[in-house]
Amino acid sequence: MSASKPSGPAPAGLRELAGFARSARRRAHAPFSRFKVGAALRTREGEVVTGCNIENATYGLTLCAERVAVFKAVSEGLRTFDAIAIVADSKRPTAPCGPCRQILWEFCGDIWIHMADLKGRTVTRRLSELLPLPFDRRNL
Ligand code: THU
Repeated sequence: MSASKPSGPAPAGLRELAGFARSARRRAHAPFSRFKVGAALRTREGEVVTGCNIENATYGLTLCAERVAVFKAVSEGLRTFDAIAIVADSKRPTAPCGPCRQILWEFCGDIWIHMADLKGRTVTRRLSELLPLPFDRRNL
């Protein structure tokens, strides 16, 4: 997938995007970890697709909020993205796990990652800062 780099400062609207992620978080199915996460992925045209983490009794089939958002978007035919907001109730910013970083890179490229907690504290990074030297289709 495209790995084009958005340049310049973080785009506008990330606070609003975090609001969508916060709402999605309420729909998380996390009875095992009790750690609820919401994500909101924004297309370059401004459409927002949300996701929440969904756990199951075998644990290993759990889907993170970020991957739910990406797969929902791709399944709807959406392919170009500029930012994702991630919201959790945590003292540290909830950054995407390793597998989610890989999926985000391959389907979204070097998007902005906006991490927020319930108190409104935020950290914003480009994905290339979280996943330097990625493996992708250019390696194949
Ligand atoms: N989780 C996410 O949904 N996104 C993250 O960025 C970190 C972890 C979920 C997976 C699992 O349901 C719970 O949080 C605890 O790891």
